Amino acid sequence: MTEKTNKTVKTSEQDLKARIWRGLSGKVLVMTIIFVLIGEVLIFLPSIANFRITWLKSRVAVAEVAALAVEAAQDNQISNMLKKELLRGAEVKIIALNKGSSRHLMLQADGDLMIEEKFDLRERQWIMPMVDAFAVLFRTKDRLIGITDHPPKMTGTDIEIALSEKPLRDAMLTFSVNILSLSIFLSFIVAAMVFLALNYVLVRPLRKFTLNMLRFADDPEDQSRIISPDDRQDEIGIAQRELKHMQVQLSTTLHQKSRLAALGLAVSKVSHDLRNMLASAQLLSDRLSMIDDPTVQKFAPKLISSLDRAIGFCEQTLKFGRANEHPPTRERFDLRPLAEEVIDAGVIQASNHVTLYNDIAADLVIDADREQLYRILMNLSRNAVQALESSIKQGTALRECSVRMKAWREGGVTTIEVRDNGPGVPARARKHLFEAFTGGARAGGTGLGLAISNELTRAHGGELRLITDADMGAVFWVVIPDRVVELHPGKRGKREVSAS
Ligand SMILES: Nc1ncnc2c1ncn2[C@@H]1O[C@H](COP(=O)(O)OP(=O)(O)OP(=O)(O)O)[C@@H](O)[C@H]1O
Ligand SMILES: [Mg+2]
Repeated sequence: MTEKTNKTVKTSEQDLKARIWRGLSGKVLVMTIIFVLIGEVLIFLPSIANFRITWLKSRVAVAEVAALAVEAAQDNQISNMLKKELLRGAEVKIIALNKGSSRHLMLQADGDLMIEEKFDLRERQWIMPMVDAFAVLFRTKDRLIGITDHPPKMTGTDIEIALSEKPLRDAMLTFSVNILSLSIFLSFIVAAMVFLALNYVLVRPLRKFTLNMLRFADDPEDQSRIISPDDRQDEIGIAQRELKHMQVQLSTTLHQKSRLAALGLAVSKVSHDLRNMLASAQLLSDRLSMIDDPTVQKFAPKLISSLDRAIGFCEQTLKFGRANEHPPTRERFDLRPLAEEVIDAGVIQASNHVTLYNDIAADLVIDADREQLYRILMNLSRNAVQALESSIKQGTALRECSVRMKAWREGGVTTIEVRDNGPGVPARARKHLFEAFTGGARAGGTGLGLAISNELTRAHGGELRLITDADMGAVFWVVIPDRVVELHPGKRGKREVSAS
């Protein structure tokens, strides 16, 4: 079992080391690159739109200068050569000025000029410029476009220009390629920085954490494997300190438990040998009791009963030392006869002053391990008899001392009540009532009876309860549920038919 666990842990540790790129670090790196690229795309959209507007406005500005040059000439007349020169310099085909309601064509290139789409730069828009910019990037055919804008210098005038879209597209493509390469370069730098930062702040401490947990799980008793927390105030620091606290507690508890287990083993061995020695002493004292000497006759029974008690004590300890009771072998049987047996054994121990009653209905059936239930009821009734006897000795008992057993069923749960009218369970016994060796408050008791009874009841899926609101005496309830019945549809069908 341990070997198997160790093997699993070792594989996991190797796995963890091999996992660096598949693990958190790799994921963080890929996610950072993706997020930075998304960020860059989001920045690219408005910037390409802005680039287009700025480019067009620069054409408008140059066109305005050309228009001013034409206006400066006499009667707006310039030579053909100058006209061509101005249009070429401004990279436009048509320049017109709108002054009030009149339109003045300032310059126009030769040939057939068909404007395919017009754009108005006077209006400020957000979404459409981005759509238009994208359309330019993906349009392969060159065309003539018209632009209307306020010229930078001439107030109260609008300028209209017509120009070929191809130079704009070329400039936008160059800009995009530049931006794209810069983005990729930046995203890798940012991703590397974010990756290193996250790796340092989160991933490394988490790996340390996980490795430590794996190592600790391998051998929780080894105190050198307890995590040494970093001096950090964040959540990881808190988690490390909490883990350390837990590991210290677990390690100490395990250490204590293994020492107790060793001690228990030693006690079992001692009890075993002691019981054998006491048994020999018992034989000798039996023979001693045959001697017809009044002093011997006076002390021999006391010696024998002391030895009996000592042997009983050793046997109980040994029984308890057996790590676990065997699981209950359950059967359905009438409870009343079993209670009768318990009462018969109890009567032998009890003096004439204590009466034991069996108030259990004759037809009450219980689903339990007969042998174990006998031991539970025996412990409870013996405790009751002992408590009553001691109160009789002290003169505090009632006139009629009784122990009563009754039982009832509620659905699939049977409750057996053992009630006496003695002094009740003392407060100091109540605290650790069902804990082995610590619950006993009676001189000569081992403090095992209720612990064993509780363990046996729990093995039945039930519960042993001390009912505290009893007016007087002690009332114990043994609550035992029936076994869960497996329903097989076929079989159930048959049974129902035969039942009807
Ligand atoms: N019916 C009862 N009335 C009064 N006190 C009780 C009763 N049953 C149990 N006790 C108290 O609870 C303590 C624990 O009982 P438990 O049966 O576990 O141990 P024990 O009787 O002392 O020893 P043993 O292992 O021999 O049974 C007793 O010492 C006693 O003080
Ligand atoms: Mg007892």
